[in-house]
Amino acid sequence: MAGNGSFWVQIMPAILFLQLLFRAVGTDGASSFSFANDCQYPVWVGVLSGATSPPLARSGFYLPPSGTFQLAAPSSGSWSGTFWARTGCAVDSSTGRFSCATADCGSGDVACNGRGPSPPVTLAEITLASPGSGGQDFYDVSLVDGFNVPVRLSPSGGSAGECRAVACAGDVNAACPSDLRVVVAGSGGVVACRSACDAYRSARYCCTGEYGSPAACGPTNYSQVFKTACPAAYSYAYDDASSTFTCVGASNYDVTFCPRT
Ligand SMILES: *[C@@H]1O[C@H](CO)[C@@H](O)[C@H](O)[C@H]1NC(C)=O
Repeated sequence: MAGNGSFWVQIMPAILFLQLLFRAVGTDGASSFSFANDCQYPVWVGVLSGATSPPLARSGFYLPPSGTFQLAAPSSGSWSGTFWARTGCAVDSSTGRFSCATADCGSGDVACNGRGPSPPVTLAEITLASPGSGGQDFYDVSLVDGFNVPVRLSPSGGSAGECRAVACAGDVNAACPSDLRVVVAGSGGVVACRSACDAYRSARYCCTGEYGSPAACGPTNYSQVFKTACPAAYSYAYDDASSTFTCVGASNYDVTFCPRT
């Protein structure tokens, strides 16, 4: 037995070293999303997986101020989905239904169960390459459906020169044109800012119909307000390609609400 013991004592450092090496090399690609709430107020995160992507372990969860939460990414296949923050959520004492003042997903529950947010909402959009494929991840912050909460998407690891953080950290609500503001009684101010498309339903603002191509749908006086407040984010449907970011080999994406910059 003593001989066996010393054998394991001798090779244990080698085993630990190999385990560390394996993790550091990270053959698995992006493995997780780390959420953090740096807002002064609570948010209820919504998660929507793309139609052809497997659901994550949670489709909605509560994140108090300073709270953090981790979600695993699927271990195989590419994954595409959207994260957002709901605000002003409560359970109706008579119906038992959960709903939110902004970006509600209509499920009546903290879990969104495959439903997307109602605008206005700041979207954090991610498409992960298949683990181990060496392919590119794509990610962006979109204000195409308006704005409610500042957000930053930040990959860790990954190839040098890419993999930059993208954020809409500015307070778009403070800069919101008066005709796009969403004000909730008793909340003490503007809680969200609608997109011009959502407010006016015109082909021009929505980039549909005769405006349904990048060449035919440039910025508008409304989209420019969003672009000024958040230059790295999509401000309208055909905003320039510089709003999409790429990364190869990230191990984790941080999703931070109200990031301190
Ligand atoms: C944008 O332009 C339209 C019409 O040209 C005008 O009615 C509207 O007030 C303008 N909005 C802003 C935010 O400048």
